[in-house]
Amino acid sequence: MDRLGAKLTTVMNFPERGPYGDSSYRGNCSGYVQKALFEHYEPKKVIDPFCGSNTTGDVCLELRIDHLCLDLNPRYGGFDILSDEIPESCDFVFSHDAYHDIINYSGAVWAGDPHPNDLSRCETYGEFIQKINIAHAKMYNALRKGGHLAILTGDIKRKGQFYSIIKDMDFYGKIQQHIIKLQHNCFSDNIKYNNPKLIPIVHEHLLIFRKDDHYIIRGKITKTIDIDSRTRTKLSWFTVVLNAMEKLGGKASLKQLYNEIEGHAKTQTNKHWREKIRQVVQTYKDFQNIDRGIYRLVQLGKNSATVVA
Ligand SMILES: C[S@@+](CC[C@H](N)C(=O)[O-])C[C@H]1O[C@@H](n2cnc3c(N)ncnc32)[C@H](O)[C@@H]1O
Repeated sequence: MDRLGAKLTTVMNFPERGPYGDSSYRGNCSGYVQKALFEHYEPKKVIDPFCGSNTTGDVCLELRIDHLCLDLNPRYGGFDILSDEIPESCDFVFSHDAYHDIINYSGAVWAGDPHPNDLSRCETYGEFIQKINIAHAKMYNALRKGGHLAILTGDIKRKGQFYSIIKDMDFYGKIQQHIIKLQHNCFSDNIKYNNPKLIPIVHEHLLIFRKDDHYIIRGKITKTIDIDSRTRTKLSWFTVVLNAMEKLGGKASLKQLYNEIEGHAKTQTNKHWREKIRQVVQTYKDFQNIDRGIYRLVQLGKNSATVVA
């Protein structure tokens, strides 16, 4: 079906990896991914700085595209994206990143000691994001104007925590496309997880950026912040009371609610804030009066008009 696979659309689905690279190299990708990209973008010169088992190189040979494939693996030059410079320029970089430490490469997939700059051996997720940003910036800088940087990466779910690499990493260049690539033949497919609520990850992300200017780099820098809603005025009184009620354990007197909410930014701009709190607990279905001046939060699902007894 053209919409899912054969032609380049926003969803890639290649169950077969094709005669490219080495299927036993962990974390390898189907060469049909690069083939679809190269047939669409028609690059004159491709660089793959994380070439792994040389999948990109094999596709380039077939399509007769000039290419340079490098990797920290000594088999492909022992090139270290963090400390070395990309030695040539090109109009297409294909970057299939390590997914943090999901698969360790140095000292595991390929022989030798663990390499300190191996991106799959960062101590923390934060360190990985910081280093992958350096790597992507270098790749972008190796592009000629009008060239493309394609980044293939995934999401991580570990110990109940979801890590969205594409959300956490910086963007360099003008984003042109976000393609979902369905995953096949994963190592994790054979692992039996104990958690029945775990939603298996079955796709990866392919982001494509274009270099539009010689000097100016269009960038998007991600930062994580904790917003204290008590310092904000642009939220409803309902939310203010809901948050306070939950903080107080789901049951509170009006006096307790006043004490909890006093000092909230919204109380600074409305001198009738106590009346507002009273109005909220008396009018919203989420709150129930259980005694004189005492309210509780209604349990979800117990008081809905849509629940048929
Ligand atoms: C996901 S794999 C690429 C797989 C490849 N697309 C294939 O089909 O075989 C990521 C690669 O990044 C390499 N790598 C990790 N850190 C690196 C670094 N600092 N510089 C260059 N390559 C690195 C690893 O050795 C690994 O081969």
